[in-house]
Amino acid sequence: MDFQLKTLGLAQAASEKADALIVLVSPGDGEQAPGALGGLIGAARKAGDLPDKAGKCLMLYRPQGIAAARVVLSSLGDGPAATAARSAVLAAWQQIRAANPKRVVLVWSGGVVPAALQAAVVALADASYVYTHTKSKAEPRALRQVVVGVPQASACKAALAEAVAAVRGVEFAKEWGNRPGNHCTPTMLAEAARSLAKAPRIKCEVLGPKEVAALKMGAFMAVAQGSAEPLRFIVLRYQGAGKADAPQVLVGKGITFDTGGVSLKPAAEMDEMKFDMCGAASVLGVFRALGELQPAVNVVGLIPTCENMNDGRALKPGDVVTSMSGQTIEVLNTDAEGRLILCDALAYAARFDPAAVVDIATLTGACVIALGGVRSGLFATDDGLAGALAAAGEAAQDRCWRMPLDDEYAEGLKTSFADVANVAGRAGGAITAAKFLQRFAGEAPWAHLDIAGTAWKSGAAKGATGRPVGLLLRYLLDRAEGAAPAARKASRRSRGAAA
Ligand code: BES
Ligand code: MN
Ligand code: ZN
Repeated sequence: MDFQLKTLGLAQAASEKADALIVLVSPGDGEQAPGALGGLIGAARKAGDLPDKAGKCLMLYRPQGIAAARVVLSSLGDGPAATAARSAVLAAWQQIRAANPKRVVLVWSGGVVPAALQAAVVALADASYVYTHTKSKAEPRALRQVVVGVPQASACKAALAEAVAAVRGVEFAKEWGNRPGNHCTPTMLAEAARSLAKAPRIKCEVLGPKEVAALKMGAFMAVAQGSAEPLRFIVLRYQGAGKADAPQVLVGKGITFDTGGVSLKPAAEMDEMKFDMCGAASVLGVFRALGELQPAVNVVGLIPTCENMNDGRALKPGDVVTSMSGQTIEVLNTDAEGRLILCDALAYAARFDPAAVVDIATLTGACVIALGGVRSGLFATDDGLAGALAAAGEAAQDRCWRMPLDDEYAEGLKTSFADVANVAGRAGGAITAAKFLQRFAGEAPWAHLDIAGTAWKSGAAKGATGRPVGLLLRYLLDRAEGAAPAARKASRRSRGAAA
């Protein structure tokens, strides 16, 4: 999909050839504009057919004086600009999607702020995404070109570039998230990561079973041992800032299929466990976006990836494994495998002397119960980091909600047979999982995003969402040199002695 920025008022937009023209209309605005569009907006408003409420829209077919075949007037309402832009674009898309438009022009009746432009572009790409990889006769996405018409194109160049990078990243994450387990093995995921290293400043290294054994990642290896597919440990690096600049480290859970292992999951909806690598996919998506945008920040991406399967060599409940950190773990439930692969990746992260470490994982069903599909769970040892991630989530409309890490939550992880057990009771399951991970987080500020409820949708619209690529990308761009200096100072201060 191709994006183009153009200086367009409503008068010029009327003569743009397109399969559909979407006009985002602000309250009380637009009808003064010269030409056919101004007239239409005025008439529709007068007749009560275009209420000033986000989500309300009106489709017109080949109206006089307009070059586009379809025109959708879509109200923005008076809410926050980015939220309004998203819902107005989604409502407009519902009107035109069946027509399979190839070229869409998007224009505003009034002014446009960068956040609204980005929200509109990301929403349009999101809604028009089509999965085709394992369909023999699938129609690919019809939408080829999106023209974004703004009052002054030169002022919106950077905003559009960020939006396009976010779109590429989200789509990369969705694509790999959606692929079934037999089309997205650890080896294939590693190849996807390698393909990202074609972009400038990105390097990719892939470790196999031998190298991982030499690193003594006993917890990660234990999860992989019940599968015929060999594990992979993916190390991505993006160097956008100086060599001495401490990197942001992202760690993504890459279970390409989670059967639960010997602690087998029930059959119903088990297919959805192909999405158990969406944390890994989000890290790949972020690197896709970094490659596109080339911001001045250093980022390391770590992805432990394997299957959680059952066979004669599989890990058993009660087995004790030794993690890379040296801590021993009693595996009371083989279905709590995400934390086992992440704990070794968190130990490995320390070698980069990170500015911060953020892990992203479809970690617990309990987080789905706590927060549903609206917000991801956010856990953090550092208030500055928590605040920066939460703010990035709001800005990108990819929201999260901070959860507690009181030490009392770790009580249930105590065991007589190892340093720690991999599960506690059912109560507070998302938090006890985070408490387990916290033991392996090093000195740097650490955060954990539990995306079990937000990484994919179930039911009729089943599919990966690409979350939290938007949140992570916003967070990293806010860390890039020259950007958001206030936020950077705040986080450096809160790092205290480590700074
Ligand atoms: N991948 C699952 C978490 C999950 C479950 C995500 C359902 C989305 C929907 C994870 O590996 C898992 O199985 N967690 C267990 C932990 C339990 C055994 C303590 C869970 O949540 O049931
Ligand atoms: Mn599991
Ligand atoms: Zn899992």
